[in-house]
Amino acid sequence: MRALVLAGGSGTRLRPFSYSMPKQLIPIANTPVLEYVVRNILDLGVTEIGIIVGDRVNEIQQALGDGSRFGARLTYIRQEAPLGLAHTVSIARDFLGDDDFVMYLGDNMLPDGIADIAEEFAVGRSAAHVVVCKVADPRAFGVAELGPGGEVLRLVEKPQQPRSDLALIGVYFFTAAIHEAIAAIRPSGRGELEITDAIQWLVSAGADVRASRYEGYWKDTGKVGDVLACNERILDGLRSSMDGEVDDVSVLVGPVVVEEGARIVRSRIKGPAIIGAGTLVKDSHIGPHTSVGRGCAVIGSRLEHSIVLDGASVTGVQGLHSSVVGRSASVGITSQSADRYRLVVGDHTQVEVAA
Ligand code: TTP
Repeated sequence: MRALVLAGGSGTRLRPFSYSMPKQLIPIANTPVLEYVVRNILDLGVTEIGIIVGDRVNEIQQALGDGSRFGARLTYIRQEAPLGLAHTVSIARDFLGDDDFVMYLGDNMLPDGIADIAEEFAVGRSAAHVVVCKVADPRAFGVAELGPGGEVLRLVEKPQQPRSDLALIGVYFFTAAIHEAIAAIRPSGRGELEITDAIQWLVSAGADVRASRYEGYWKDTGKVGDVLACNERILDGLRSSMDGEVDDVSVLVGPVVVEEGARIVRSRIKGPAIIGAGTLVKDSHIGPHTSVGRGCAVIGSRLEHSIVLDGASVTGVQGLHSSVVGRSASVGITSQSADRYRLVVGDHTQVEVAA
């Protein structure tokens, strides 16, 4: 079996971060989402992995390299424009050959792994095997209607009136039968070749298409709120480690990771929390549920339930919560009176200040 990881796309829902980085590299507990994806695939014993990349090819290649660090062989496949999930399969045709493959959306986190479902696919070897989760509002998803034995009766992409609450999530297993289906479909109203249309084509042609309900934790990290929620969930499994320096008056409570070269001075860190390599934390309270990236400075501040990306600084700010601070951004205080703010805010940024 091979794997196809989708790390192109436009990432409009994750602006402003996706303006300057591929969304699949957003860090969850200081590790890019894409790295969790590759590791989940390797857990299946699959080492031949194709990575679909768009304009951000260089950054993704820099992050993952040739895969040898993980024991994988990575093949980068360039998609000129985000023309849909099924389009990525068609441009990967040479890489995939006639092998079975798992298609994995590069912004989806499934920390409990996908081994059980891979096993069900290997045993049943239906033409396609999709993974579904119950969601509160299925209208934003591909929605599956299932028969009593888990067979897929119908798939509809983003229906206005969903006939089930089972959403397709970002992992799909296919045999080579999917290629004929993709060749037969046309772009949807939004101009994309939809994988749901290709799978529906298989269903209509009488092929065996099955679904498994995913019982583990799943998060699509396409939006800031979901990135924060996922970060909390992953931090909940954190185990302490200490590779930096903590002075005598600082206090660490609960699981805290202090990476190499980080310094904690006169501060309190309440786990779960990670302080990235080379970061300085001084006169501050950090955590719980907070990850601070590499080369950051957090000085005289209070920060909880947040993510600070590499190279950012937070100085003199009390009560920062549920926030994401971008790479090399700085958040600080003003010497002007308390009812005046000075902001240099990028496109599609959100800022909330006291009323
Ligand atoms: P989406 O999150 O559905 O699409 P998007 O990246 O365009 O995001 P947004 O809706 O916020 O603009 O894509 C799911 C995953 O598949 C994601 O990792 C990007 C990837 N993808 C491709 O690689 N090529 C494509 O043509 C599309 C549509 C998505």
